[in-house]
Amino acid sequence: MPYFLWSPELSIGIKEIDLQHKSLIQAVNALYDAFQSEEGERDLSWIIHFLANYTVEHFATEEALMERIGYPRFNEHLRLHEELLQQVGAFLAKFNAGTAGISEDLLEFLKQWLLVHIGSEDKTLAKHVRGL
Ligand SMILES: [Fe+2]
Repeated sequence: MPYFLWSPELSIGIKEIDLQHKSLIQAVNALYDAFQSEEGERDLSWIIHFLANYTVEHFATEEALMERIGYPRFNEHLRLHEELLQQVGAFLAKFNAGTAGISEDLLEFLKQWLLVHIGSEDKTLAKHVRGL
């Protein structure tokens, strides 16, 4: 059983974004697996960097869509993305300096953030798109 299980309730009904969410969840699972196994330690760095870069790419996809349709909650949604990227950036700076490591708290934070964000903001965006 994966650490973070995709379920149909997480689908927002926009194919490109759903696929990206699945990839993000897979990357969180890869990070969890590497964290759990001793041999996985050498993989932690590239996985966390991949996850951070992919998150930037994914947010850019959503933000481009919001701009294209003149989404009324654009600023609020953007602020949530930027807050997370700031937190991730601060963590990576410490990780790269060797003063912070991957932890269960970090994994749980990422999982909960995605669950809440997809379930609220992303679904609200998708609902708006369907109503256009
Ligand atoms: Fe989002």
